[in-house]
Amino acid sequence: MMSAERLTLDASELAGDYQLRTRLIHGPGVLSQLGELARSLGARRALLVTDPGIVAAGHAGRGHAYLENAGLDVLLFAGARENPTTADVERGVESAAGFAPDLIVGLGGGSSMDCAKGINFILTNGGQMRDYWGVDKATRPMLPLIAVPTTSGTGSEMQSFALISDAETHVKIACGVKNTCAKIAVLDPELTVTQPPSVTALTGIDALSHAIETFVSTKKTLLSRMYSREAFRLLSHSFEMVLQEPTNLSARSAMQMGACLAGMAIESSMLGAAHALANPLTAKFGTAHGQAVGLMLPHVVRYNAEQFEPEYQLLMQSFAAPQRRRASEHPNKPSGSAELADWLVSVLRLAGLATELRGLHVTADHVSDLAAAAAPQWTGTFNPRKVDAEVLGRLYHRAL
Ligand SMILES: [Fe+2]
Repeated sequence: MMSAERLTLDASELAGDYQLRTRLIHGPGVLSQLGELARSLGARRALLVTDPGIVAAGHAGRGHAYLENAGLDVLLFAGARENPTTADVERGVESAAGFAPDLIVGLGGGSSMDCAKGINFILTNGGQMRDYWGVDKATRPMLPLIAVPTTSGTGSEMQSFALISDAETHVKIACGVKNTCAKIAVLDPELTVTQPPSVTALTGIDALSHAIETFVSTKKTLLSRMYSREAFRLLSHSFEMVLQEPTNLSARSAMQMGACLAGMAIESSMLGAAHALANPLTAKFGTAHGQAVGLMLPHVVRYNAEQFEPEYQLLMQSFAAPQRRRASEHPNKPSGSAELADWLVSVLRLAGLATELRGLHVTADHVSDLAAAAAPQWTGTFNPRKVDAEVLGRLYHRAL
């Protein structure tokens, strides 16, 4: 294993600049610490950013009560929507304008956390989201943020980027500044038990795709690989369990930490071609991100493996799905890209997700437009094997 590892990381990948910016608190029931954690940051006035589903599940009310019980004034903004837009951010900024918060709490899925980060940009630095498109465009200090994820998917709680869609063009504006990182991430697996089965499936496959794409990306580093590998171990072990036993708290906990670690890997190693292929499906067909990326990923794994099979063999050493444990009793069983791609298709089926593009009403006639839209996607530039419009078109055709 050590020699294989040496073969796949060169000196530049062993170099890096690492700083953990977020205090991470994980465990069943840790939401109850929210009030004292807010006070530990010196906060008196908290803007609680969430979405209507989280309000209906009762989580926002509990978070609100913990903050108030610790003596904070709280303003609730429940206007975060899936794939939050610049308009959602503007509404949040308007609602907070007279309140003058000294803390923002993002409580919900990746959308609530991204919306909270977006609101933080405008409240503290003024202007509009597109002013901050790119890296390090905001110069003034930002409000402290506490991130409380209720899904196991994006890992946004550990990332410095806010992803906000332009309300008019629907282009995703990625704004990255180190001090947008949450000061504290509160990971309470009990919050993930109430999510609808479709959300468990879609966010779980997305988290898995993050672990897999970060492990092989051109930007991988020694530390990002540690995160990717452990994320893959936790997620592959527990994804089928949470689909079949939604109240299994140990499996929920493993998924939540797996998604979080995969998010930490993205922070330095970025993603790959499956995300480049997924974004146009979401933009043109409204396909949910997890469905789109999960459907395309097996094809990307097979394509990459023609040049990078040892990378997938290395990753599969951390594969921990239950059937893999049985297979490990047969040490000669091959375990590389083919086994990984086949397993991904099997979990898509188990999750009730489409495994072919025709199931999403995508036909061969759509492929050239999709490929043209996928080719300029930034995330594709980090794929280990080069992709262009022609290759991406071939991958869409294989997925039909
Ligand atoms: Fe993703």
